[in-house]
Amino acid sequence: MNAPTAEVAVPFPSELPTGYEWLENEPVFDPERHLQLEAPAEILTLADLGYTPQEIAGKATTIAATSPFRVLSEEGAETMLAVGRELRQFCRPAGERIERVVRGGCYRSRWLRDLCISPEVTQHFADIYGTSIAPHPMVGHLGHINYEPSRIETAVDKWHHDTIPLDYVMMVTDPAATPGGRFEYFLGTKAEAAAMRTRGETPPPDRVVAPDFPGPGSVIALHGDMVVHRGGPLTDLAERITMVNAYVATDTDLDAQSRNRDLIGVDDPEALYTEWAKSVAWRSASRLEQLIARAGFSADVAAVAEELEWAVEDVATAVAEMRAGQGKIDHYE
Ligand SMILES: [Fe+2]
Repeated sequence: MNAPTAEVAVPFPSELPTGYEWLENEPVFDPERHLQLEAPAEILTLADLGYTPQEIAGKATTIAATSPFRVLSEEGAETMLAVGRELRQFCRPAGERIERVVRGGCYRSRWLRDLCISPEVTQHFADIYGTSIAPHPMVGHLGHINYEPSRIETAVDKWHHDTIPLDYVMMVTDPAATPGGRFEYFLGTKAEAAAMRTRGETPPPDRVVAPDFPGPGSVIALHGDMVVHRGGPLTDLAERITMVNAYVATDTDLDAQSRNRDLIGVDDPEALYTEWAKSVAWRSASRLEQLIARAGFSADVAAVAEELEWAVEDVATAVAEMRAGQGKIDHYE
C-alpha cells in the first residue's frame, strides 16, 4: 500500500459568496508558530465498535476514533479562541439539532481557512487515518464552530453521526474550565443507536466515552459518519466553543459518506449549491477518468451501463436531492 498523502480535491474558491467578508486585523497562520502536531496514544477501530467487515468495506478508513492529542501550540490555541469569539456574531441554529453554530467561517477568517486547509495538518491526519485525504471540498464543512446553547437543560448537540466522512473535533475553550459539556461518543454502531432511539432510549453511560482533552487546541480524530457522538449538557451556563474540520478520502472508489441534503435550510444557498455541485463533480470526474483509462473492449451492455451509472452516481444523487429540497435532519433523539 502507498503511504497516505495530503491532497486537494477541489481548490479553495478564489472568491467569496455574497454576504461574506474577510475579518480584519487577523494574524497570518504560521504552521511553525501555531501548530504543535502530536500523535494520539490510542486508536479505536470500527470493528471495536461492533461494525462488521461488510459495513466497514468501502469506508474512508477502518479507524473510528482516537484519544485526544494536541494540534495547536499554546499560541495557536489562543488565536483559535480569539477567532472563535470574533465569529460568534455570525452564529445561528443548524436545523433542530444544535442551536448555535457558525458555518462558512473559512469565508470570513483567513487564519481559520489556512488552518483548515493546511497541508501539514492534512498530512498528519492522513497518517493517523492511514488513508490519503483532502480537506472537505465543501467549504461549509471546514472550520465548523459550535457554541454553547442559551439554555442549560439543552445538550450542546444531540446524539448524531456527521454528514461528512472524517473530521476532528477541537476544544477551542479550555475543557478543564468548562462545567460539563463533555464531548461524548457511543461505543456501538449506528444501527444500535437507531434501535435505542426506537425504544425511546439514548446511549447508556456505561457505553459512552468522554475523553479527557489535555487543553484548548487539542482534538480527537473521528470517523464522523460512523461514530455516534454528541456534546453533552453543561452543568452551568458557560462559554463552550468547539471547532470541527472535515476531510474526505481521495480514493473516489470509496463511499461518499455524506448527507448533503441535511444542509438545505442550514447553509447559505449560494455557497451550499455551488460547493455541493463541485464536490460531486470531483468524485464523478475521477470515476469517469478511471473509466476512460480502462483498457480493452466489452460487449456486455448491462455491465457497461452499470459502470457508467457507478461513475455518475454522486452527480445523479445530488441532482435528485437538490430537486427534492429540504428533508428531515437525522439524529438519535
Ligand atoms: Fe458531530
